[in-house]
Amino acid sequence: MRVRVGNKYKDYKSVWFENNIIKLIDQTKLPFKFEIVSIKNYSQLYSAIKKMVVRGAPAIGIAAAYGIAQAKNQNKNLKKVADYLKSARPTAHDLFYGIEYVISKIEEGFSGTDAAEEYALKIIAECKRIGMHGEKLIKNKYRILTHCNAGALATVDYGTALSPIRFAHYNGKKIFVYVDETRPQLQGARLTSWELYQEGIEHAVIADNAAGYFMQNKQIDIVIVGADRIAKNGDFANKIGTFEKAVIAYQYKIPFYVAAPTSTFDTKIKSGAEIVIEERNGTEISMISGKRIIPQNIKVCNPAFDITPAKYVTGYITEKGVIGWKELMR
Ligand code: MRU
Repeated sequence: MRVRVGNKYKDYKSVWFENNIIKLIDQTKLPFKFEIVSIKNYSQLYSAIKKMVVRGAPAIGIAAAYGIAQAKNQNKNLKKVADYLKSARPTAHDLFYGIEYVISKIEEGFSGTDAAEEYALKIIAECKRIGMHGEKLIKNKYRILTHCNAGALATVDYGTALSPIRFAHYNGKKIFVYVDETRPQLQGARLTSWELYQEGIEHAVIADNAAGYFMQNKQIDIVIVGADRIAKNGDFANKIGTFEKAVIAYQYKIPFYVAAPTSTFDTKIKSGAEIVIEERNGTEISMISGKRIIPQNIKVCNPAFDITPAKYVTGYITEKGVIGWKELMR
């Protein structure tokens, strides 16, 4: 991903592995500070995933893959490390997939480092192909709605939902992106907007509850979102607020696409009803920039994800191409 440093652009990944240290772009500090965090052991990694220093399904999967490699190089008990890292966040399938992928490669005789590097390259290549397939859905002058951040920050490079948008822009299409701010953690306002700015892609940040207004007023041509877990029947979990966007898009016959690599598909579960939804700390709702915004002693509910039933999805943009949910179930 292109990052402007001073007057120059530098190519960055959001997660990488260097001399047995996991390096993360600190996503809690963006867009105001561009800081790299060094993770030296699995308990630091657990805390970075939990506090969302690294976030987005594919990115936490890759960070955890490096965590297993690091633990192997430090002669730690891999089962214990794997169980601990898996408990950091419950919803994204990639966290579990990335850990299991590296462990199975180690069992086959690969070094942990080689296995984790191979895993990261595989996901990055898949995200690139998602971009190349998905960009064909975006016509010149399209106005695109996206939710949360499913960009390079969330996937290490390219992104899932943002990858087709990036490629449409690289191919010279004139596009405009409406970015939901994505309360309570503001991944859209803080992170997607930052990524689009780095690429010079025209966009506007809108309040979460404004998306329906723009769809109703024929200002959105296509919706593209990422996913944290996709069940066998095509139901999927994504950032809270995705479901209502899908229902409104369906109402106004606006194509609604979900972009995700294989690592996000959980073929072990039949439907979205089996996906565990993470409940996060209420202070994410009750406080803004360290300041309390609701009266004391008021209950707060903070589910981090919701489930969108497959019937609302026009298609899934994967590294293999764009497929409809009926094909997905075959
Ligand atoms: O809580 P987050 O920020 O990790 O949630 C991220 C999302 O919901 C993304 O849309 C999803 O992980 C897809 S990222 C390519």
